[in-house]
Amino acid sequence: MKSIAEIRRDFPILERKIGGNPLVYFDNGATSQKPQQVIDSIVHFYTTYNANIHRGVHTLSQEATEAYEVARKKLQKHINAAKSYEVIFTSGTTEGINLVATCLTPFLKAGDEILVLTTEHHSNIVPWQLLAERTGAVVRPIPVDKEGMILMEDFKAMLSERTKVVSCQHVSNALGNVHPVKEIIALAHSVGAVTLIDGAQSCPHFAIDVQDLDTDFFVASGHKMYAPTGIGFLYGKEAWLKKLPPYKGGGDMIKTVCFEGTTYADLPYKLEAGTPNICGGIAYGVAIDYMHSLGMADIAAHEHALLKYAHEQIRALGGITIYGTHDLERKAGVISFNVEGAHPYDVGTLLDQMGIAVRTGHHCAQPVMDFYHIPGTIRASFAVYNTLEEVDRLILGLQKAMKMLL
Ligand code: ALA
Repeated sequence: MKSIAEIRRDFPILERKIGGNPLVYFDNGATSQKPQQVIDSIVHFYTTYNANIHRGVHTLSQEATEAYEVARKKLQKHINAAKSYEVIFTSGTTEGINLVATCLTPFLKAGDEILVLTTEHHSNIVPWQLLAERTGAVVRPIPVDKEGMILMEDFKAMLSERTKVVSCQHVSNALGNVHPVKEIIALAHSVGAVTLIDGAQSCPHFAIDVQDLDTDFFVASGHKMYAPTGIGFLYGKEAWLKKLPPYKGGGDMIKTVCFEGTTYADLPYKLEAGTPNICGGIAYGVAIDYMHSLGMADIAAHEHALLKYAHEQIRALGGITIYGTHDLERKAGVISFNVEGAHPYDVGTLLDQMGIAVRTGHHCAQPVMDFYHIPGTIRASFAVYNTLEEVDRLILGLQKAMKMLL
């Protein structure tokens, strides 16, 4: 892997100062920063070959189409999908889950059950509640232990012939817990349920193999993995994608249209109506190349070292509660905590004044906060360009904040 100094030079935003202090960007769980390579690809697209795709015989359209489809193949390789048409471009994780939850409507009926973890992000709860409202199915939360890890025995006890969908986060955005999704998928399949894995917080941090996981669906967002906002993907097994009805109607998703009836395009286009985020898709491919140029294993190892150091240092401060598992082998990218006696928002505001960007609040995971009876947490989330020295800055910042607030 390049040295961290070299990696940091790829991210121009890291030169910024906030309140006179060098920026420490620890809000990567919300969105990551973008390397110059990705920024350049966006400028290059709009300055040299901007055109709509799959529509024109002209050179620009062909170049744009080629680049977009190459990006799809890069994603296919990145997650080890069997076919490139099993990768559907979406606007992000939320759209991917909504697509599946909407298109599964004809497959569910009253009394069926949809299981999700208690610690899901809202985007892996609400689309299923909407599906339940449409069909009469029910959404049941799978219990977790006090560290927020799935209780496998409880999960097994919930499974029955009524279980039609198991949709589970791979990594908790609020806690960083990595759940044993391969085992969860196998158990769900044993009762005939369809599985979806929310990979928004796993895909940025370690290698994904959808065939090894054997999941029916897997979703993630580009913007948390060095690509722009507004682009993500849905992976689906070919058999499932073929069974799903179209999600949206429009251009590019049809074979023929007439008022007597319309026939739909083959995969992946059946599920990609309208002009997509062409530039975003191409830039996503460049972000994937960037991650591979560093090496997924090296990214994981570096971020794990940051997480371990942050855990040790924050624990050593005293007066701080860390949420989520303390088994760092089952944690990725995120440390979530509270200063005892201080509101997370106040701590976050003081840290910002010192140039340190963290997320505070419920992290779009209110059931997690209800579970712990807290209003929110302070969340530091890491990316490959973060350093141990930046963790030291966070520790100093917390010390100062604690002096001011307690
Ligand atoms: N889901 C994103 C987060 O966890 C926005 O911050």
